[in-house]
Amino acid sequence: MLSQSCIYLCLLLSGFFGILVSGEFYSSIEKMEILGEMEETLVEATRSYLVQQQQQLQLLSSFVDHIRREHASASEMHEQNEEYLEQPLQAFRLIKRLVLDWKDLNHLLAMNELKANYRNTLDEMAKEVEVLPNLEELQGAIKGLVRLQSVYNLTASDLADGNLNGKKTDSALNWRDCFEIGVQLYEMAEYKRALEWLVLADKLLDEVQGDDTLKMATEVYEYLALTYIELGEKDTAQETLTKLLTWNSARPTQNIQAHLDHRMPKCPIKKEDSEYFSDYVRLCQGKRLPEIKTNQSSPRCYLDSNRHAYFKLSPLKVEQVNLDPDINIYYGVLNDNQIKSILRLSDELDSFRSTHRKYVISDMRISQQVWLNYSSPIMRTYRQLVGAISGFNMTNVEIMQLANYGIGGHYEPHIDYMGSPLPPYYAKRGDRISTSMIYLSDVQQGGYTVFPTQNVFVKPVKGSMILWYNQLRSLNPDHRTLHAGCAVIEGIKRIGNIWIHSSYQEFRRPCTLNSEE
Ligand SMILES: *[C@@H]1O[C@H](CO)[C@@H](O)[C@H](O)[C@H]1NC(C)=O
Ligand SMILES: *[C@@H]1O[C@H](CO)[C@@H](O)[C@H](O)[C@H]1NC(C)=O
Ligand SMILES: *[C@@H]1O[C@H](CO)[C@@H](O)[C@H](O)[C@H]1NC(C)=O
Ligand SMILES: *[C@@H]1O[C@H](CO)[C@@H](O)[C@H](O)[C@H]1NC(C)=O
Repeated sequence: MLSQSCIYLCLLLSGFFGILVSGEFYSSIEKMEILGEMEETLVEATRSYLVQQQQQLQLLSSFVDHIRREHASASEMHEQNEEYLEQPLQAFRLIKRLVLDWKDLNHLLAMNELKANYRNTLDEMAKEVEVLPNLEELQGAIKGLVRLQSVYNLTASDLADGNLNGKKTDSALNWRDCFEIGVQLYEMAEYKRALEWLVLADKLLDEVQGDDTLKMATEVYEYLALTYIELGEKDTAQETLTKLLTWNSARPTQNIQAHLDHRMPKCPIKKEDSEYFSDYVRLCQGKRLPEIKTNQSSPRCYLDSNRHAYFKLSPLKVEQVNLDPDINIYYGVLNDNQIKSILRLSDELDSFRSTHRKYVISDMRISQQVWLNYSSPIMRTYRQLVGAISGFNMTNVEIMQLANYGIGGHYEPHIDYMGSPLPPYYAKRGDRISTSMIYLSDVQQGGYTVFPTQNVFVKPVKGSMILWYNQLRSLNPDHRTLHAGCAVIEGIKRIGNIWIHSSYQEFRRPCTLNSEE
């Protein structure tokens, strides 16, 4: 039953997730669209199969009705002492029916052409979609859900109700979805979360009536018992198993009992205990940490027309979000048309040179990336803009990394500089002195950029760019630039990163001898 409902759940989650190497559909809006289309075809093929089957049944049923009527009139005649089959026409019709009609029907059923056609359609479809989602994909999607739970403090029932971070959505999960999520989390050794989902499945199952609820409740209880064993709660596991046997005494539970008697529970290491996790999570939720003293003055916004000749006529809109280290947002750096041109370039790269597309699917970072060089007018314009805003020499800047985060897509706290020793590729360029990150989309919900040690969160606004220095003036790394991309709840987050290197910048940001500055 698992593999069957796995496909079902994948398709279900495909509606739930917007946005992903062999796998990770959910981080790719393009791939999710393919799956969506596939499901539409599936529905259409199934619907047309059902209509044809119904027509066939109708035919069968009217044939049977017709014969029954004949038989009824025959017995009426019989009562009137007229021998029905002595009538030549009746005799002919009986023989005709048996020789032709029943045979046709038999043939129709034996051939089962409709079913064969339907199966062919399904096989063709599977061939067209290069890679169908697999179990790994399903587990990836479930990890995405659980990530939303931990980053946005959502309970399983919040998610199941479609109650995402205070905003109600239509997609709700039923007990079976919750059960499947619980089972997969158990398989992935995420026992605490598995328990939460299985308990919810049990609760939701109580609310439905059906023929197979007993069987299903039995399966839910078995997984509950197994999960309690892994969590070291042997007594509860025993109670669960005993309870199961009270209403389904025929169920063979010896294996689980043996597991219960001999299993030494594992102690999984939780990433959530890491130093920055709770600050990161709070900032992702758009809450500042009152107890941390940082270098923010009240947010300062101003128009700057003196920075560069570029901004004489249309001044640059600046928001200083942090003073030391400097973190600034510049609004309206690119307009919608310019962004469209950049995204078109990335789409072209994607379709013509898909091998250049990098999928980053470590759990730390779920996103897709392409790299754009400066051979197009729009990219040259953007490079000049970044130069004008940052004041840096853009001659030897890295090409732009374009990343696409789907739902549940995120990048855990990390730093952009390499530190010493520099990798060979950076030896001449120097380390990444500065990061400029432009938002190429709005995000409906979630996807903030946060600086956990600086108490700073930034909501993505299409066309705006964040700029910060990864190095102190001494060119030592600035650890305070630790930053993260929070999980996307709804929508797609697209960003463009340009890293500026420290070589060639001697006259742009003169360094000092004080390594602390
Ligand atoms: C998470 O939500 C629960 C209520 O569902 C609340 O009691 C708890 O304080 C929240 N935790 C954080 C870290 O926000
Ligand atoms: C605030 O700025 C001072 C220097 O101006 C620096 O020493 C300190 O580390 C900064 N505080 C934080 C929390 O970054
Ligand atoms: C830049 O990228 C385009 C594709 O977008 C490619 O055709 C071109 O050869 C690249 N130019 C350089 C100098 O790498
Ligand atoms: C930027 O740096 C390069 C390489 O050092 C140099 O040739 C060029 O003149 C610089 N550009 C500006 C505008 O200073």
